[in-house]
Amino acid sequence: MTPLNQAAWIPAKKALPFKVGDAPYTRPGSGQLVVKNSAVAINPFDWVLQYIGPALAGYIKYPFIFGTDVAGEVVEVGPDVDRFRVGDRVCGSAVAIAKEVNRPAEGAFQLYTVMRQNMLTPIPPSIADEQACVLGLGFGTAAYGLFHPDYLGLDMPKIPVPKEVVGKSGSPRTVIITGGASSVGSNAIQLAVAAGYQVLSTSSPKNFDYVKGLGAARVFDYTSKTLVKDLLGALEGNELVGAYTIGDGAVEACTAVMKKHDPKLTRKFIAVAGAIIPAEKLTTFIGKGTYLMGMMGGMIKSTGTRIRTGVEAKFILVDGLVDPNSVVSHIYTSFLPLALAKGQFVPAPPPYVVGKGLDKIQEALHLQRNGVSAKKLVVRL
Ligand SMILES: NC(=O)c1ccc[n+]([C@@H]2O[C@H](COP(=O)([O-])OP(=O)(O)OC[C@H]3O[C@@H](n4cnc5c(N)ncnc54)[C@H](OP(=O)(O)O)[C@@H]3O)[C@@H](O)[C@H]2O)c1
Repeated sequence: MTPLNQAAWIPAKKALPFKVGDAPYTRPGSGQLVVKNSAVAINPFDWVLQYIGPALAGYIKYPFIFGTDVAGEVVEVGPDVDRFRVGDRVCGSAVAIAKEVNRPAEGAFQLYTVMRQNMLTPIPPSIADEQACVLGLGFGTAAYGLFHPDYLGLDMPKIPVPKEVVGKSGSPRTVIITGGASSVGSNAIQLAVAAGYQVLSTSSPKNFDYVKGLGAARVFDYTSKTLVKDLLGALEGNELVGAYTIGDGAVEACTAVMKKHDPKLTRKFIAVAGAIIPAEKLTTFIGKGTYLMGMMGGMIKSTGTRIRTGVEAKFILVDGLVDPNSVVSHIYTSFLPLALAKGQFVPAPPPYVVGKGLDKIQEALHLQRNGVSAKKLVVRL
């Protein structure tokens, strides 16, 4: 019998709130499977899409089902699926809003989601579904910006964690990853450490221990007036391989560091995940414009900066996500299963469960919009 599906629909562009109602149960195609979701996590992208969706993803046809982060049980496998069987516990990235996918059946905010086998990992018995679902978008964005050759192009992560962080130059290879307490940052730090790099990060002082626990060698307060000086001090004798930025002001700080750190540095590159934009800015025309400019890495500004400083800042636009040969797929399939099972990689930040049921998703988006600290908002289904 076909299972009865329900979803938290966005009925029309920019519609608020989501409307919970029936949704078709979609059979999996080649390389796809259906997951009965037990927990989904919330990203800033979800409420940003709800507010300014057409400006970001004009191709979406409404009604639609948003959501990218899923954990649950496989209930049906399609042809050519060789990594999973019915009954497996899995978590990963739902890809409904990828331009090349663009269909509600692959959104997370429903009871049954069609998933791609290359964007999933088994959940080891030691990890609960509400912990596991936090990986999704944060993990994919971190992996893409760190390892894709169009961005930082770092060495791929390994198991176990390499003991040496010393590069060909004989100095420790170091990457700056700001916003270590954010979802993207928590994933990026662990991935960079697993790839054999030393990480310098930023957070609020209350999260220093949390960020060090993820593997950062040093953590600095992003509001400190001496941030650039402190980072330069920590980088003395290090080979700086690049920066990955999350948070307002991070591109400027990393640009200043790269300008001064080592005049011989040949590639001065910043992969920009995004600034944390206060929600109220998205309610004004100028605010929306600022956000979109920020999303695109402030292209005009960054070209100007590159000409002036030699530092290139490039906004991470994840492309080709569903390609089984993408760096994200590779890390989902070759690194994550064993790294999670061995406890080398932990789903982070820890979940904060907002409630149970599809009707809690809108509330969770609202809470995420008000800001979180070292936490991932999760809804149980
Ligand atoms: N390009 C893409 O494809 C893509 C994909 C996903 C996300 N993003 C963007 O990446 C950013 C992070 O997303 P997320 O889901 O990881 O966010 P999040 O978890 O909601 O971020 C919250 C955290 O940001 C930290 N933070 C705030 N301002 C900061 C600053 N100026 N410097 C350093 N840290 C700061 C806070 O740290 P403390 O609590 O320690 O103060 C807080 O823990 C957002 O801008 C998001 O839109 C982009």
